[in-house]
Amino acid sequence: MLSRPRVPNISLSVRAIAPAAPVRARLQLLRQSTARANLSTSTPLRTADDRLTSHTKLPPYHPVGVARALQASPTTSPVGPTIFAHEFSLADRVALVSGAHRGIGLEMALAFIEAGARAVYCVDLPKTPDESWVKVREHARALAGAGRSGAGAGGEGRLEYVSADVRDQDGMWKVGKTIGDREGRMDACVAAAGVLPARPEPCLTHSAEQFQAVSVAVLDVNVRGALFTAQAAGQQMARFGRGGSVILMASVMGHGMSKDTAFMSYSASKSAVLQLARSMACELGPQGIRVNSISPSAIRTPMMENVLSPVPGAEKAMAEAHVLGRIGRADELRGVVVWLASDASSFCTGSDFFVSGGYQGV
Ligand SMILES: NC(=O)c1ccc[n+]([C@@H]2O[C@H](COP(=O)([O-])OP(=O)(O)OC[C@H]3O[C@@H](n4cnc5c(N)ncnc54)[C@H](O)[C@@H]3O)[C@@H](O)[C@H]2O)c1
Repeated sequence: MLSRPRVPNISLSVRAIAPAAPVRARLQLLRQSTARANLSTSTPLRTADDRLTSHTKLPPYHPVGVARALQASPTTSPVGPTIFAHEFSLADRVALVSGAHRGIGLEMALAFIEAGARAVYCVDLPKTPDESWVKVREHARALAGAGRSGAGAGGEGRLEYVSADVRDQDGMWKVGKTIGDREGRMDACVAAAGVLPARPEPCLTHSAEQFQAVSVAVLDVNVRGALFTAQAAGQQMARFGRGGSVILMASVMGHGMSKDTAFMSYSASKSAVLQLARSMACELGPQGIRVNSISPSAIRTPMMENVLSPVPGAEKAMAEAHVLGRIGRADELRGVVVWLASDASSFCTGSDFFVSGGYQGV
């Protein structure tokens, strides 16, 4: 896992750069609607333009909840619920997800599409996506085409593949800018690219050479890569002025002790990710850019299989370390990530959320 070659050149797929006309049209719309919103002086704005000018104003579908109930008139037909149609909806949103060729990242990307996202850009190392990824993309397209994603009729549901290395800061910034230029917005980001050392690192004998070869490589992807990914998306969120949600993938191993493991660089990297999220949250809050982290315990993905499968009995022991008595599934992160990306979590920032099945090390 750690010996992957660097991929210095960003190669956005042809799909990701092809249709220039719709982009121009969207940017034109963006400019028009921003101009319209700026003209309004007397009444509070409650239109779709609201989100374009300030993240501090209420979204156009407000009031919600009790305020909506109290505003309803007994003489008119009941107003519809907003909780799933609006607060949890990602309709028309655009997202960047790193490590989204497989595992947790790909699961997050598809969850965004199901919740209505217009396009999710999946950044990962392979030059071209494999068959499984392509099949997921076709599924997403079919859902949206049938009007069955959270966007309803007319949803695009595009999964776009981008070959890039999260350790390449210039490359990642270019990826972010290309997405911003093309889509005219950036709403959500999940930094899910990550690596685990191929072998345990016994702390008393971990040599300087091993530290350089293994630990630095882990920190490089898990910390620098998370920062560069968050920068790539965050710069575009700041550019469009609508705020946004950045989600960093941490781990229970960044918090507490994990008995019978010797992965100090991984644990240190995930502790750093937790603080990175809090620090970025403080700095970006005034721009309405929320930054949170998620801390899963053991989730069945290729990364976890690589750890468990070589050691007899490891899977059983790992399952028993969870209060729920089992390892988690990647799809069990769908709820929390959609919630964090959506307006439903609009007052959450600088927080970490355990998805751990009651892991004993937490
Ligand atoms: N699976 C778990 O049990 C678990 C638990 C806690 C946290 N996490 C974290 O969740 C995230 C996703 O893990 P996963 O289990 O899906 O792992 P995974 O190995 O299955 O997927 C990780 C993806 O990241 C990509 N990647 C690695 N280095 C990259 C780079 N330099 N640039 C771009 N992409 C790169 C890989 O190619 C891969 O597709 C990681 O940050 C991991 O540390 C996983």
